[in-house]
Amino acid sequence: MAAAPTTSTRLAYQQCIMPGCGASYGVEEVRTSCDACGALLDVQYDWDALPVPDKLSWFEQKWSRRNEPLARSGVWRFHELLPFAPADKVVTIGEGQTPLIMTDGVGEYIGMNRGNLLLEYEGMNPSGSFKDNGMTAAFTHAHTVGATRAACASTGNTSASLALYCCSSKLMQAVIFIGSGKISYGKLSQALDYGALTVQIAGDFDDAMQRVQQVSKQLGIYLVNSVNPFRLEGQKTIMLRVLESLNWQVPDWIVVPGGNLGNSSSFGKAFYELKQLGLIDRMPRLAVINAAGANTLHELYEKRGLRWNNGQPDQKIIDGYAVELDTGGRRADTIASAIEINRPVNLEKCLRALEWMDGVVREVTDQEILDAKAQVGASGMGCEPASAASVAGAKKLREEGVIDPDSRVVCILTGHQLKDPTATVAYHTADQEEFNRVLGSRGVTRAAFANRAVQVENNLDEIVRAIQLNS
Ligand code: F0G
Repeated sequence: MAAAPTTSTRLAYQQCIMPGCGASYGVEEVRTSCDACGALLDVQYDWDALPVPDKLSWFEQKWSRRNEPLARSGVWRFHELLPFAPADKVVTIGEGQTPLIMTDGVGEYIGMNRGNLLLEYEGMNPSGSFKDNGMTAAFTHAHTVGATRAACASTGNTSASLALYCCSSKLMQAVIFIGSGKISYGKLSQALDYGALTVQIAGDFDDAMQRVQQVSKQLGIYLVNSVNPFRLEGQKTIMLRVLESLNWQVPDWIVVPGGNLGNSSSFGKAFYELKQLGLIDRMPRLAVINAAGANTLHELYEKRGLRWNNGQPDQKIIDGYAVELDTGGRRADTIASAIEINRPVNLEKCLRALEWMDGVVREVTDQEILDAKAQVGASGMGCEPASAASVAGAKKLREEGVIDPDSRVVCILTGHQLKDPTATVAYHTADQEEFNRVLGSRGVTRAAFANRAVQVENNLDEIVRAIQLNS
């Protein structure tokens, strides 16, 4: 049986993801890439020297200790599988209390047989998205290295999450970079309320991402975007909770939206490690879903054949595509603001995850995203547009016959319904002009699952008649 993690810096370290390089760095260093070759980094562990449980059900004993913050957190109750920081340095706000919900209504929409479609509802996190899983981990690392400021680029969720950890812990000042007009008001309001220093730059997320990397390097500000390998350690626990909800059985498919590709990368690492540790006996398959207006991964993986290739992805394909984006002045464009990203920073890590998990990539239109979102809403949960890409993608894979109707499929709902409410209200509106203004420009032509508000005069008889007619 495992004891509590007794982390020391020798037991955890950072390592270049490229097997041909493999340079390693101390866990106490703050870096987002390898000095030797520029590639991304992983957090790695000396598992043989660490107290790892011999079966996943070992974690069940934490359920009875919910008064302890680390046992209560949906991230830190799995501390033994992300043991890079000592317990007394962990910063938690009770993140990760998220349910896995069987949803036959959405399952039917996708074309699954009963009982086989599950939605992992990450919108239930304290700041309203899955980001809190990663933020508690990155923030904990930032705290262990004594950071006083932390920064991110964001379309909304990362900034809300960072700002929340900063203001509730009072340990750091949040500095957030957003593209002008590219953040939803709900999320901006969180960041402002939580007291983050908010820097609006003229540009989109890709521009903001590039700038925040430069600025944090220059000013020595701790960066919490998903290039930060510690953040992805926290996001592994989304998969651990999926397994926990399934009584430790491995599902057949994990379907996740792809933006910066942090989630998909961390899910691959989670399952790879569990398999290495003998804690699961097989890997689920991975489906990463791009929006059609921000489809770099789909283009590179499915159309141009880019593969991890044992750590030697064809750089010519990657560079050639980047040049095409530059010369064509192409910008990401989708209603799913959280995945409106053309230059995913975790591309190589995601390729590795796709290899480990026998993955596929699909792209879905804004029309498909909004229809899927309405179905998720009608199921009683709700999610933001980016999250619904997972459901739209699962439907596509089901129609293609890639997903079997009897397989067990988990779609990740990454963010809460109350993000991007303008899109939701426009989908359900009876006002054609409003529909066209918000959605028509994005190629959305119909709202098959709209629930239109009934317009009635302020007259009791009329109101009663309208209710009788419509219910
Ligand atoms: N879903 C939601 C709700 C998100 O907020 C994001 C990313 C993604 C999916 C994409 O996830 O990068 O792991 O592929 N949001 C970033 C932000 C851009 O600023 O909050 P990924």
